[in-house]
Amino acid sequence: MGLMSMEGVAVIGAGGHAGVVIDTLLEAGFSVGGVFDDDMTRHGTEILGYEVLGPPEALRDYGLRKAIVAIGDNHTRYAMVQRFPDLEWQTVIHPDTHVHPNAQIGAGTIVMVRSVIRPNVLIGAHAIINTAAVVGHECVVEDFVHVAGSTHLGGECYIETGVFLGLGVVMVPGTRVGAWSIVGAGGAITKNVPSQVLAVGVPAQVKKSLPRRPL
Ligand SMILES: CC(C)(COP(=O)(O)OP(=O)(O)OC[C@H]1O[C@@H](n2cnc3c(N)ncnc32)[C@H](O)[C@@H]1OP(=O)(O)O)[C@@H](O)C(=O)NCCC(=O)NCCS
Repeated sequence: MGLMSMEGVAVIGAGGHAGVVIDTLLEAGFSVGGVFDDDMTRHGTEILGYEVLGPPEALRDYGLRKAIVAIGDNHTRYAMVQRFPDLEWQTVIHPDTHVHPNAQIGAGTIVMVRSVIRPNVLIGAHAIINTAAVVGHECVVEDFVHVAGSTHLGGECYIETGVFLGLGVVMVPGTRVGAWSIVGAGGAITKNVPSQVLAVGVPAQVKKSLPRRPL
């Protein structure tokens, strides 16, 4: 059974991504205040020994003020953050990363093990820089972006809000991906990708438009 601490960080979301977030929190020296999820069938189950205590609103019953949203899907993570305007969002950086000291990383963003963040990088809020991703110098990564594992961004790339880059995506230096677009695993971005599309392949090409979500 996990330790419940007044100072702990609430983990919102109890799916597969939550275990990775809990592991990263612990490695970074935080304690886990509890795990919360809307799915009632998960209540009472455990993730890495931490019980799923109830719906996200219940975190207040445990005196928790700091939280991180452990949901990999960008739209769902966005919606969850809007539900809690008063919470303090915890930024978490795994100790086994290289993050240049002048890189700026926003609230609620998590940087996973073995990632590398180069100088003069700006990363927004509630982003996920997943396992062994590389973010090159002068890149901008806006809010609610998910950069999947082993993705490599060359220098001066720009990733707009809500983009999902699948596993192993490569971005040629200076390229840009528009808001809420998805780039499939293994894609190579050699020229700018517009907003709200699925792009796949090497070189990445637009496959289809994505339905606009009510944000
Ligand atoms: C792109 C992706 C999200 C699928 O999206 P989708 O909307 O369900 O798309 P579909 O599966 O219907 O595929 C659409 C087309 O793109 C192709 N496609 C899908 N993913 C592709 C990829 N990674 N590379 C090349 N082509 C791909 C499909 O073959 C299909 O082609 P077709 O229309 O010629 O048959 C998924 O394939 C993917 O790459 N996910 C990344 C997962 C990941 O990295 N997760 C990390 C978790 S940390």
